[in-house]
Amino acid sequence: MHAAHGGVVPDLAARAHLEVIGPVVDEALAALASGWDDVDAVAVTRGPGLAGCLLVGTLFAQAAAAARGLPITGVSHMAGHVYSAWLADTSLEPPYLALVVSGGHSDVVELRDHGDAVRHVSTRDDAAGEAFDKAARLLGLGYPGGPAVERAARDGDPHRFPLPRTRLAGAMSFSGLKTALRYTIRDLGAGALTAAGTPADPRVVSDLAASFQAAVVEQLVHALATTADRRNAERIAVVGGVAANGALRAAVTTHFAGLPVSVPPAALCTDNAAMIGAAGWHRLRRRGSDGPGFAIDPLLDEYA
Ligand code: KG4
Ligand code: ZN
Repeated sequence: MHAAHGGVVPDLAARAHLEVIGPVVDEALAALASGWDDVDAVAVTRGPGLAGCLLVGTLFAQAAAAARGLPITGVSHMAGHVYSAWLADTSLEPPYLALVVSGGHSDVVELRDHGDAVRHVSTRDDAAGEAFDKAARLLGLGYPGGPAVERAARDGDPHRFPLPRTRLAGAMSFSGLKTALRYTIRDLGAGALTAAGTPADPRVVSDLAASFQAAVVEQLVHALATTADRRNAERIAVVGGVAANGALRAAVTTHFAGLPVSVPPAALCTDNAAMIGAAGWHRLRRRGSDGPGFAIDPLLDEYA
């Protein structure tokens, strides 16, 4: 639905949420022997995100909780990502350091305790996932871009096109890398480009994808490693849609060979409902039920 537009269109997304939320909830409940009777509580994303989508989910969840007399908790999407590591390994207890890399965030966050997170590093411009999506567009690959770039990079040469290695103290930045990719493509010359301005030679696409992916991964690992040193981290997690990337997973596992590293399976890295349930369970135990009719927060900045 969104592919034709090269990105998510908010109104289309909200309308689609409205159309499918009922069937999606029914399908999830069908997995339980007694359906709603097996549900102890409701967890729902209250932010950050697109207002229309958050409203559809939150109103639906509040109505369901009220109708069934169930407790409800409004969860931060980002806390969901942080807690996705716990879903994969329920022995994982704070404190741990999480690299949170998605379409909207590139952060290094320390979960000091349940309900107590602090962000040590964030991006000055694009998020890592956004950078992958933009690179995919420049290379004529599909949307979402992360998986497409990873696929193209698989048999590419990461050393053929030297791209800048951004290193900032206490911050990340991906816009310079994206611009460097744009200029590298332009400098191939008009004869080497398609009518759409993307590289015509699939070999070149693969090599550029591999070079770009290597530069992103290097910056992410650098940000995580310097924070881990500074904070004396004892455990590491890598979460969010970009954590599905095989090159990033391999680089983190290699770099932190001496520390326990939790990387959820790919299906729990990209957005999913299980992670909201996981963060919601911890939040509910800590704070009890939220009042009825709590508000959404499209700009919510909370990791626990
Ligand atoms: O966490 P997520 O599913 O949604 C947000 O909260 O944003 O992350 C989506 C982002 C997209 O930018 C997508 O391109 C990226 O994660 N992504 C990947 C991979 N799979 C998804 N990036 C790199 N490699 C992947 N395999
Ligand atoms: Zn997400």
